[in-house]
Amino acid sequence: MNNVFVMDHPLIQHKISLLRDKNTQTKEFRELVSEISMLMGFEVTRNMPLKEVEIETPVGVARTKVISGKKLGIVPILRAGLGMVDGMLKLLPMAKVGHIGLYRDPETLQPVEYYCKLPCDIVEREIVVLDPMLATGGSASAAIKYLKEKGVTSIKLMCLIASLDGIKKINDEHPDVLIYCAAVDDKLNEHGYILPGLGDAGDRLFGTK
Ligand code: PRP
Ligand code: URA
Repeated sequence: MNNVFVMDHPLIQHKISLLRDKNTQTKEFRELVSEISMLMGFEVTRNMPLKEVEIETPVGVARTKVISGKKLGIVPILRAGLGMVDGMLKLLPMAKVGHIGLYRDPETLQPVEYYCKLPCDIVEREIVVLDPMLATGGSASAAIKYLKEKGVTSIKLMCLIASLDGIKKINDEHPDVLIYCAAVDDKLNEHGYILPGLGDAGDRLFGTK
């Protein structure tokens, strides 16, 4: 398992436990996904470069720091990645947002693309791909491949729960991509669901089951 950061902050771990609970209903589930994404975003952005500037305060001049370097973009994988967008935008209100629509074919578990819209300056940005679940890894890997084909050179993947299989697939196919997650689960069931996981993230976010 390479390039994986598991966020063990107590607030994140507590909220992940609530998220896994089958009794957590749509409204709370959505709020938790948003809150966890914001907390994780804090760590994902830890290494953003800074530059020194001079700022006039009401009583003097401060030598202080502001973010510099590449601008950020976030790319949720539809649908479930949408639940992570507003938490990230609370931290990064200037980030541009691209969307990649993929669903997993229930028989083959292969990702099927149905939508894509990216910011026109995406190649100049550092991109964080958002998807709560990294199961077989097929969807995230396809989204990353698509972004690379468009010329994006700096990509991180942020998910809530990752499986060992999913991590291996990203490590094998995209060794340059850092994976940030809040939990690693060992197994997938015969339908490609993470065990114990949290069930179907899209359905729980949008109340479609
Ligand atoms: C889920 C999830 C990921 C994908 C993970 O989406 O949000 O995108 O499955 O599985 P994988 O790692 O095996 O590809 P799903 O296809 O259920 O679509 P949805 O978000 O529209 O519900
Ligand atoms: N997609 C989900 O929403 N949950 C899983 O456990 C696997 C794929």
